Amino acid sequence: MKTVVVKCGGSVLKELSESFFDSMKALLADGYKIVFVHGGGPEINAMLEKMNVQSEFKNGLRVTSKEVLEAAELVLSGSMNRKLVRLLEAHGIAAIGLQSSDQGILEADFINEEELGYVGDVTSVNKSVLETILQTGLLPVLTPIAKGPNGTVLNVNADHAAGAAAYSLAADHLLMVTDVDGVLNDGKLVTVLTGAETERLIETGVISGGMIPKVNTALKALESCGHVHIVSGKKPFYEDGKWYGTQFNKEEAAK
Ligand SMILES: Nc1ncnc2c1ncn2[C@@H]1O[C@H](COP(=O)(O)OP(=O)(O)OP(=O)(O)O)[C@@H](O)[C@H]1O
Ligand SMILES: [Mg+2]
Repeated sequence: MKTVVVKCGGSVLKELSESFFDSMKALLADGYKIVFVHGGGPEINAMLEKMNVQSEFKNGLRVTSKEVLEAAELVLSGSMNRKLVRLLEAHGIAAIGLQSSDQGILEADFINEEELGYVGDVTSVNKSVLETILQTGLLPVLTPIAKGPNGTVLNVNADHAAGAAAYSLAADHLLMVTDVDGVLNDGKLVTVLTGAETERLIETGVISGGMIPKVNTALKALESCGHVHIVSGKKPFYEDGKWYGTQFNKEEAAK
């Protein structure tokens, strides 16, 4: 089974272009099975504002109190997941929404409870649930909310969640869809990145904020996945077997 894990950023959910869905359909037509994982950053921010709850980020990760977790789950599982499934269905793609804490689709452990609160790093993925759904021809749409230890539920950065799913499925491709064309340097798209070059761009501050968990996820996923790209959701990302955006190169990354 040829699989692609597509992570769609909350940053671009409202701006997904028709050509994005054409690329999704092209992948399906070429025999790829797709697992979708979504974020919801801007919508969670809007909900927190409504609830009058402050939130902060540390190294691109949202510090998650009980209240923030409640808001994140409400937005991600309640509204973003529903919207995405309907959007895919409206484009003729048969999709099914999954809450990743159910059946331990994603299981996670606290990263640092004291510093980050209810934020998790994925420790296991229930591959058999995902593979069973893929075999029926449906496209699973996963929330980045995981089952934590002792009955807890943990907020997982959606890049990390998608990376863990791609790693565990040994996916052919991991695609991280965001609101920019890929990794930019001086406003110009970097078409190929290696591990060493990525590190240099982080150190010099070219790569910052939400791009940090994305590139780290990309490099980690390369250990198990064939190809990793960061692409824009406002444009096509796959046409006639060709991929766009920033490509992370396995051979060069391993140097
Ligand atoms: N070198 C860089 N090249 C491109 N974007 C960068 C770079 N450094 C930082 N960024 C920022 O990273 C952002 C993308 O990450 P962000 O976390 O905001 O979105 P997302 O991951 O797509 O959405 P979500 O977090 O909701 O899932 C870009 O919009 C840009 O502001
Ligand atoms: Mg992000």
